[in-house]
Amino acid sequence: MTAHQRPTPKAHDVDSIVGGRRMRRNRRTDWSRRMVRENTLTVDDLIWPLFLTEGTGIEQPVPSMPGVMRYSVDKIARQIEEAAELGIPAIALFPNTDPSLRDADGSEALNPENLICRACRAIKDTGLPIGIVTDVALDPYTSHGHDGLMKGETILNDETVAQLVAQALLQAEAGADVIAPSDMMDGRIGAIRAGLDAAGYRDVQIMSYAAKYASAFYGPFRDAVGTNATLVGDKRTYQMDPANSDEALHEVALDLEEGADMIMVKPGMPYLDIIRRVKDTFERPTFAYQVSGEYAMIMAAAGNGWLDGERAMMESLMAFKRAGADGVLTYFAPRAARKLKGLD
Ligand code: PBG
Repeated sequence: MTAHQRPTPKAHDVDSIVGGRRMRRNRRTDWSRRMVRENTLTVDDLIWPLFLTEGTGIEQPVPSMPGVMRYSVDKIARQIEEAAELGIPAIALFPNTDPSLRDADGSEALNPENLICRACRAIKDTGLPIGIVTDVALDPYTSHGHDGLMKGETILNDETVAQLVAQALLQAEAGADVIAPSDMMDGRIGAIRAGLDAAGYRDVQIMSYAAKYASAFYGPFRDAVGTNATLVGDKRTYQMDPANSDEALHEVALDLEEGADMIMVKPGMPYLDIIRRVKDTFERPTFAYQVSGEYAMIMAAAGNGWLDGERAMMESLMAFKRAGADGVLTYFAPRAARKLKGLD
């Protein structure tokens, strides 16, 4: 007998296996699927990272992040209006500092007229009720692309912390609502909290990049802020080893003790296990950063017709909620918000 002549297999007696226990019953109809759904994604879960560049009238595409732009400060208000209209609660700012302003000490970080400070003021001037999250780290300002000050090949911890405190104060003065240190120096959360309090910024929140891994998935971000070209070596002496999980809990515990109001796990998708452990252990506001490389992967595959980009976007964002995240920093924020509001 050849294959196509085989008789159709006889229906198995599945009832004898499952008894009455049929999981598919709840999945039959849309209303039922909605009714038993365990997690929801809303616009309130989205934080939108935005890139800034010098000049005026500039909206410059980032080649490795299709759909993502760098905006000059005069163009930022329009983006904020869009975000506010969509109900996105907060945006996060990252500068592409002009190469001529980068030096070994990252001194541009302490210039009250730098891109971030000017953008904060421009956003506050819109009067729109949206949170401004600012990045505290020196990498967009240093000629070597590291998040801290260097001596030889060493990233100096304590000297860097002093500079980060000054940077955070400047940002708070410019109108930042949430200070988000992404540098991974030891002790910076406590030092920044003390600095903010002493200067009267008791209400400025801190979202700590508590468990930030030394990851390959930051590549496109480094294109966007212009540090790929300059980075000397790698960041493994301060960012976490991707092999570690218990260590993430230790990092989070310290940052919470030092005064972090919210904590973050970064990258996102490859680290959902860390988000779950952090949320279960500390029960505190926990955020995920769906980083540039995760965005680029989905966009590249979608661009090639290899997957349905919109579905992959929504599924990946829901996965963060399922893992326990209270919110997600994502370059998909405006697109996902439009989708969630039924506008697209
Ligand atoms: C640096 C910083 C990085 C990101 C946010 N802040 C990159 C790095 O550590 O080199 C990455 C964000 C992304 O990839 O989307 N302080």
